[in-house]
Amino acid sequence: MKASAPGKIILFGEHAVVYNRPALAVPVTQVKVDVEVTDSESAGIHIHAPIINLHAELNTLPPDHAIGSVVLKVFSAFGISNPPPLKINITSTIPAAAGLGSGAAVSAALIRALALHLAYPLTNEQVNDMVFEIEKLHHGTPSGIDNTVITFSKPVYFVKGQPIETFKVGKPFTIVIGDTGVAAPTKESVGDVRKLWLEDQNKFEVLFNEIGKISQTARDSIESGQPEQLGGLMDQNHALLQQLTVSSNELDNLVTAARDAGALGAKLSGGGRGGNMIALVKKEKAESVSNALLSAGAKRTIVTEIK
Ligand code: MEV
Repeated sequence: MKASAPGKIILFGEHAVVYNRPALAVPVTQVKVDVEVTDSESAGIHIHAPIINLHAELNTLPPDHAIGSVVLKVFSAFGISNPPPLKINITSTIPAAAGLGSGAAVSAALIRALALHLAYPLTNEQVNDMVFEIEKLHHGTPSGIDNTVITFSKPVYFVKGQPIETFKVGKPFTIVIGDTGVAAPTKESVGDVRKLWLEDQNKFEVLFNEIGKISQTARDSIESGQPEQLGGLMDQNHALLQQLTVSSNELDNLVTAARDAGALGAKLSGGGRGGNMIALVKKEKAESVSNALLSAGAKRTIVTEIK
C-alpha cells in the first residue's frame, strides 16, 4: 500500500504560534514523501530510506530512531505485538531540516501506508494526533501546526489547542520559496527562543503579539482577495523574526535579493536560522525573482501558487 504527504510552508506566525498566537500555513505539493509498505519474504521489518542512506531491519535500530520509532508507535497503537514481515520503502523530495516539514511528512505518510497495509483505517484526526506525538519526541515543544497542515493538506489558520480552521483563498497568489541550503533543526531555534522568552517575557510577549496581529490581518487579506497586501506584512513579520533572533545572514541575504528583484515582500519561513525563505511575487515576476535568489546563493527555488 502506498501513501504520501506534502511539504509545507508557514506564511505567517512561526515561533509566536508556539506561544498560542495564530499562524497561517499552506501545503506545498511540489515536494512530497512517498511510502510504500509491502509484504516481505524474509522475516522482520525492513526499512529502506535511500535519502538518509537507511537500509535496516527495525530491531537493529535504536528505539528512539526517527523512522523506527514511528513504526513501533503504529504497531503499539494497533495492539500488534507480532507484526508480519514487511518491507517499507520511503522516498522524499522534501529537503530535510529546511523548514518544509520533512519530518512530519515522513511520519504522516508512513503512518497512513502502514495503516492501509495492516487494514486499520485511521481518520485524518487520528493520523494528525499520532504525528503530533512523534513531533513532540523530536522537537521539544512544537505547536502542532506542521503536522496539521501536512496531514490535512489544506491551508490552515492555526491556534494551538483549538479546532482546526482552514481558510479560503479569495484570489490566488504566487510564492517563490528559496532554500539557503543551511540545515537548521527546528528544535534548536524553538529552544533558543524559549530561553530568550524565559529571560525577558515582557519583551517577547510583545513581539509575539505583534506577530499574531500580522497573521490575523494576513488571513483577512487572503480571504478578501487582496493578497498584494501580504507583501508589507511579510516584511514586518521578517523584521519581528529577526528580533526573535531566528534569522541568519543567509536568510537576510535571500530576503533582500528577492525584494531587490521586485518581490512584493519576503520573510523567512519555518524555524529559521537556515532552511527556507518565501517571497510574494506577481506571477509574471516569479521567474526573475527565482533567478535572483539562485544568483544570491539559494540552493534551489520552488514556485508555488496558493489557491
Ligand atoms: C516550524 O515550522 C514552526 C515553528 O513555529 C515551530 C512550531 O510551531 O512547532 C517554528
